[in-house]
Amino acid sequence: LASIEVNVAAVEPGMSLTVKWRGKPIFIRNRTEKEIDEAKAVALGDLKDPVARNANIAVDAQATDIDRSAGEGKENWIVMIGSCTHLGCVPLGQAGDFGGWFCPCHGSHYDTAGRIRKGPAPQNLAIPTFAFTSDTVIKIG
Ligand code: FES
Repeated sequence: LASIEVNVAAVEPGMSLTVKWRGKPIFIRNRTEKEIDEAKAVALGDLKDPVARNANIAVDAQATDIDRSAGEGKENWIVMIGSCTHLGCVPLGQAGDFGGWFCPCHGSHYDTAGRIRKGPAPQNLAIPTFAFTSDTVIKIG
């Protein structure tokens, strides 16, 4: 299926964009320093799902903040499939006990790196294949 290109030039820190890709919502967020710091401060041992779930890196990579983000130099950016890993509802942004995403269907709380922290969802929000093709354009797929 086709990939899409998204211009994120207007997405300032603290802002998000949702686009559709392969029929699913894709959350793109330019995280604030505070959000990044909060995610980095979490010990891996405290994570319910310690795996990065990032299609761009090794399948067994750990769910560190850097490996959940767009990577070195682009740590502020997070790109995820907006589908709760419990039963597929669309989580709400900047909500829940961990300031990340909250799924209202059955109460799953994700942190600012999209990692599941509380509730029935078994896995971190999935990160699709994507790459920056320039400083301001993200190609998804
Ligand atoms: Fe999100 Fe059940 S579908 S908590």
